[in-house]
Amino acid sequence: TRRVRTRDLLAAKERGERWPMLTSYDQYTASIFDSAGVPVLLVGDSAANNVFGYDTTVPVTADELLPLVRAVVRATRHALVVGDLPFGSYEEGPTQALRTAVRFMKEGGCHAVKLEGGRRYVEQVAAITGAGIPVMAHVGFTPQREHTIGGYRVQGRGDAAEEVLADARAVAEAGAFAVVLEMVPGEVAKRVTAELEIPTVGIGAGPDTDAQVLVWQDMAGLRTGKAPRFVKRYADLAGALSQAARTFADEVRGGGFPAAEHTF
Ligand code: KIV
Ligand code: NA
Repeated sequence: TRRVRTRDLLAAKERGERWPMLTSYDQYTASIFDSAGVPVLLVGDSAANNVFGYDTTVPVTADELLPLVRAVVRATRHALVVGDLPFGSYEEGPTQALRTAVRFMKEGGCHAVKLEGGRRYVEQVAAITGAGIPVMAHVGFTPQREHTIGGYRVQGRGDAAEEVLADARAVAEAGAFAVVLEMVPGEVAKRVTAELEIPTVGIGAGPDTDAQVLVWQDMAGLRTGKAPRFVKRYADLAGALSQAARTFADEVRGGGFPAAEHTF
């Protein structure tokens, strides 16, 4: 079957079909998720935390993300691959935003880009979509602004619901093909989803969005420790890898590996 297109995602919304999205940053996860039928993969700037070991997404650059985008694109045949524009690569204005988006398309080879922001960045969304590059927007909690927001906090509670709605409407009007809603009350996400024609992709936004996204290391239990409330762990990769490494180490120390069958 062919690559997923943005219009397939719009058609899914019209049919009332929900779809999953995962982050991916490398060849093996990309090809496994692609074969498992995940239709959209995001090379998130969350690579900052989950690949490069930064404390926030703020430091990661386009130069760091682009090789990961290329790897994910090369390893997939069906999924639509979205490249996430990092902090500092689009805020200055539509010209900077379009220049970065073009780099992601030409050097990264992805099929769409994502940026964080609602009303504040409608000119950027319009410039990028105007050039023929599909844009996924991201409203509610936006990690690149965490120093202003004051940490990981639910957005859109009470009267602030109108702010989230206004942001989502603005990016849809500017031409975005989908919008991520991060850490907003379920009722707010439900309203946005009902109002917009474009699909909403929830993370910490309850069950009523058109799609759901998780960071793959959270989904598969590679990241350990306290996870946010919205994370569900579907596997214990940290436990499995730790066990494998311990057994390998023990066998090397004890002389159990390599055995005759591993030897030329
Ligand atoms: O970078 C990322 O992983 C994201 C998703 C969680 C939406 O932006
Ligand atoms: Na991101």
